[in-house]
Amino acid sequence: MPDSRVPRRRRFLVCEPRHFAVQYAINPWMSTGRPVDVIRALDQWQSLVDAYRAHGHTVHTVQPVSGLPDMVFAANSAVVVEGRVFGSRFHAPERRPESVPYAAWFKTEGFEVHPSEAVCEGEGDLVPAGRWILAGTGFRTTREAHREAQEYFGVPVISLTLVDPYFYHLDTALFVLDDGSGGTPGTAGNVAYYPGAFSPGSREVLERLYPDAVIATREDALAFGLNSVSDGRHVFISPGARGLADRLAVLGYVPVPVDLSEFHKAGGGIKCCTQEIREIRS
Ligand code: ARG
Repeated sequence: MPDSRVPRRRRFLVCEPRHFAVQYAINPWMSTGRPVDVIRALDQWQSLVDAYRAHGHTVHTVQPVSGLPDMVFAANSAVVVEGRVFGSRFHAPERRPESVPYAAWFKTEGFEVHPSEAVCEGEGDLVPAGRWILAGTGFRTTREAHREAQEYFGVPVISLTLVDPYFYHLDTALFVLDDGSGGTPGTAGNVAYYPGAFSPGSREVLERLYPDAVIATREDALAFGLNSVSDGRHVFISPGARGLADRLAVLGYVPVPVDLSEFHKAGGGIKCCTQEIREIRS
């Protein structure tokens, strides 16, 4: 089985953490009394970019803006499916201005940006999973934004309710291991998730959609193990999530540990720092 996992080359957008800091607290991980080591953050971030490139992925960067310390979390800026960009409208007033430089980047690259009218935090909560988009709500992105996204993309959007404030974005509680494009075409693919982050009904939805999902423990989730990026074969994962990485390895995935511990102080990890640009597949 190990060699049957097929990677697909990805295009990522990231933002250098030159201005990264914890200047306000908008999730339980953040404490303004715990300073960020920017040199260490830059170093860790560079190792993520290097790991992506070493595995054949293309990495673009958007210029960081001073005064926007959370701009490093590129995942929150938009969701891109088949070259269509659904721009974000942030929940916290402190983050709202981030939409501007990201929208400008997309426009410069030739993409049209459709801004969300309702509160929507991009790929943090809207997780494209092949035939549908899994969408989190409860803390940030609203159900109204789920409806807007479905209308805009013409792709089914499946709403899931998050209930644990430590897992305030869907991408802290679930990631797509395989979107169905690398394995048998037309299949639903597979995900890994921590059930305790979801309401009972949403857990049932996930069980129906993904009977073979990889179930993570709270420990894996608190180590940001579910804030991972998979290319269908390699899984860029927090080294703290050892249990989860071992299970993925047994299933034929190749864990690539990347330590972003400085970013955990702001409630973010690998996936939070990564926006995927999904083009139209030929
Ligand atoms: N401090 C940021 C916030 O609370 C972290 C965002 C993490 N991003 C993510 N995709 N989960 O908004």
